[in-house]
Amino acid sequence: MSNNLNHIVWHESEISKSDRRQLNQHKSALLWFTGLSGSGKSTLSVELEKVLFEKGIHTYRLDGDNVRHGLNKDLGFSPNDREENIRRIGEVSKLMVDAGLFTLAAFISPFREDRNRIRNLLDDHEFIEVYVQASVEVCEQRDPKGLYKKARSGIIKDFTGIDAPYEEPANPEIIIDSETQTVHQSVQVIVDYLEQKQLIY
Ligand code: PPS
Repeated sequence: MSNNLNHIVWHESEISKSDRRQLNQHKSALLWFTGLSGSGKSTLSVELEKVLFEKGIHTYRLDGDNVRHGLNKDLGFSPNDREENIRRIGEVSKLMVDAGLFTLAAFISPFREDRNRIRNLLDDHEFIEVYVQASVEVCEQRDPKGLYKKARSGIIKDFTGIDAPYEEPANPEIIIDSETQTVHQSVQVIVDYLEQKQLIY
């Protein structure tokens, strides 16, 4: 892949992120849900999006299973492919935040460094890391797609939490304990956080 940017010049828009935010009458940010398969990332982001939408906030949701059907359908689950998966989604998310959207991204994103790279890509306070915490044991019991069973029997290789690593966030903005909190309670925790930070009203 060629990486030569020598002859590529950045072209500024005349409409800025803050113009778009003003038009929308709300800020934009990236809520990054990370956690094991089956921890509840997708469920939570779906429910949160509905609440934000009801409040008149312009949103968009990016989700692992969906993005891997299109933009990232060339990628698998090796460490390099996961890194590239998260890198691309980070870039797309940055564009969405620039477009003035409240972006919700739900990806296992098992590597701390990859997540931190996205944090550094965005402006201060635009990246909100939400760690959806549930043990492998609990996720395996839930096994909503039967993937843990397949991983245990060797049909799926490199499955996060079984034979591929997951690195917990060191300092996430929000921790959701999905073993004990209901989806409704978890959504409320996030809404409270966003209100307290004056990202939504
Ligand atoms: S990653 O690690 O961030 O690149 O993964 P992500 O793009 O979020 O995709 C995770 C979904 O892919 C399915 N799946 C697997 N997950 C983990 N490991 C392996 N080997 C694997 N193979 C398929 C699974 O449905 C994940 O969805 P969630 O919603 O997390 O259960």
